[in-house]
Amino acid sequence: MNTQPKRVEHQQTDRGTIPVYTTAVVEQPWDSYTDTDHKVWAQLFARQREVLKGRACKEFIQAQDLLEMTADAIPRFDELNEILKPATGWELIGVEGLLPEQTFFDHLANRRFPVTWWIRKPEQINYISEPDLFHDLFGHVPLLMNPVFADYMEAYGRGGLKAEKIGPEALMNLTRLYWYTVEFGLIRDDNGELRIYGSGIVSSEGESIYSLESAAPNRIGFDLERIMRTQYRIDTYQQTYFVIDDFEQLFEATQPDFVPIYDKLKTQPSFPAREVQDDDKVYQRGTREGFATDADA
Ligand code: PHE
Ligand code: CO
Repeated sequence: MNTQPKRVEHQQTDRGTIPVYTTAVVEQPWDSYTDTDHKVWAQLFARQREVLKGRACKEFIQAQDLLEMTADAIPRFDELNEILKPATGWELIGVEGLLPEQTFFDHLANRRFPVTWWIRKPEQINYISEPDLFHDLFGHVPLLMNPVFADYMEAYGRGGLKAEKIGPEALMNLTRLYWYTVEFGLIRDDNGELRIYGSGIVSSEGESIYSLESAAPNRIGFDLERIMRTQYRIDTYQQTYFVIDDFEQLFEATQPDFVPIYDKLKTQPSFPAREVQDDDKVYQRGTREGFATDADA
């Protein structure tokens, strides 16, 4: 079996130029994984579990344990589904990589989570510019076991289908919400300490440490409209992280109809990723040390 994903086209989006793949759902070609593939999984799995001790939120770690993910081998999607489906109704589907937006939203709205079936090469252990199996499976899938987060993800999918009909600005507002929550969100634990839940962070050793411990980035309390107005970068660690109190807060805050919000935001300027605003709830005002000097995406 040829393990090279089939790249079909490149698409210019507000996240930069990204490859978009065929829309077809593929069966996970589990037997085609090489020893090297399993070793990459094992190495990343062991390393991230270690770095996430005391850094990832408890919901993430517990869910990953429940799913019985281990370093031993790349998990089989159908075995994970046997645990995930009865828990929250979510189902993993294999895909070649990033999907066209509407297809992605439609999957989420129907509680199907697309997981890239191929894993990065050994030389990409520390950085890969597009989502692979490790990011999708290790990073995104555990929280689908959490009932509140599971509902949020479905609602996001429906919200995406809606925003697409409204227009590109609405879609950008919504994409920023995904970026700053699902991908790069922080959460407070029972003692008020900051913990990680965003999949872009939990799947990166460097950013797992940086997001919590570096003095450079801002850490700011979750605010829906504030996030929807905030630009982001895809090529560096984040310059600002947004902190939720719990998943209920995230779910509740995103229940209202976004149409009037999109309407209102149309006339308001967006914020550069690095800026702190006057009415922000600031956990940490970043020093901006080491920030790139060029513009945000
Ligand atoms: N409430 C949003 C809307 O009306 C949908 C949504 C829910 C979006 C949750 C994101 C997250 O569009
Ligand atoms: Co992701």
